[in-house]
Amino acid sequence: MPKFNNILIIGLGMMGGSLCKSIKKNKLSRKISAFDTDQDALSYALKNRIINYKVTDLVKMEHPDLIIICAPLSSYPSIVKKILLVVKKSTLVTDIGSSKGGVHRSITKLFHDSNKSFLSSHPMVGSEKSGIKFTRKDMYKNKVVFILDKESVSRASYLKLKNFWESIGSITHEIDSKTHDILMSQTSHIAHLMSYIFVKSLPQKILDENLPLLLGGGIKEHIRLSKSNPQMWTDIFLNNKSNIIKTLTRIQKNTAILKSMIKTSNRTNIKSLLENTYNKTK
Ligand SMILES: NC(=O)c1ccc[n+]([C@@H]2O[C@H](COP(=O)([O-])OP(=O)(O)OC[C@H]3O[C@@H](n4cnc5c(N)ncnc54)[C@H](O)[C@@H]3O)[C@@H](O)[C@H]2O)c1
Repeated sequence: MPKFNNILIIGLGMMGGSLCKSIKKNKLSRKISAFDTDQDALSYALKNRIINYKVTDLVKMEHPDLIIICAPLSSYPSIVKKILLVVKKSTLVTDIGSSKGGVHRSITKLFHDSNKSFLSSHPMVGSEKSGIKFTRKDMYKNKVVFILDKESVSRASYLKLKNFWESIGSITHEIDSKTHDILMSQTSHIAHLMSYIFVKSLPQKILDENLPLLLGGGIKEHIRLSKSNPQMWTDIFLNNKSNIIKTLTRIQKNTAILKSMIKTSNRTNIKSLLENTYNKTK
């Protein structure tokens, strides 16, 4: 017997579509509905039975028991304003946004002021691909999903969300939104930023003439990450601005130190810096 009657996914791209496939595979909901501003994504999902039906206007949605926002962060305010016009108190709303900064704070306040349940999530999973055609049914299996600020909703709502993620095979982990964003700024967010900068700094001639010769090494991973969705990453960098700036300052400092060692041919110090770094992740 499915645990949910109707789950609504808002934003039917790579992450939202993969979520629909996981829900279906685990027989978690009687119905899976979706809303997207891209009609092609909805038609593709209906044709391939990824969803049961499409919602054409959020204010006319049937009442789902769970809503999962999987759209870009910058689209959240307009989506949430519409949801709040119609959503019932018994419906739990979550999202999977990669940053819990400014947009997250403002929508949390909107839900709180309306006395409606919102509890944010962030799956530690994904890829550089975008769109419904890149969905995978096992994307969330055995992957960590952060649940943010669990005390902001009732225990029943928290357990409902935790149970949802665990039912599709994810491993839940509670965290507060401030710690989450600091952690992301030092790991995933900065890794993507560094890849964008690395590829930006590569002379075009190298890419045009020598790329196939170079793709075997670590460059491949930088190029893969630099192919991530530009809109999504613009949203993330701006939503986690102050933490990312702090991380960048540390990186600039370390880059300057290594640059100076190389400039002065300081073999001992370079080797020692590299050894210390090597040992950091033992
Ligand atoms: N891609 C990742 O690796 C990853 C990982 C974790 C979390 N996330 C988060 O998941 C979310 C979606 O990422 P994705 O990779 O699936 O992106 P995507 O580009 O594949 O999909 C986004 C979908 O949202 C739709 N959309 C845009 N504006 C909308 C609106 N106003 N209303 C409804 N739908 C709208 C788009 O048409 C698209 O189908 C982002 O918030 C991102 O931060 C992504």
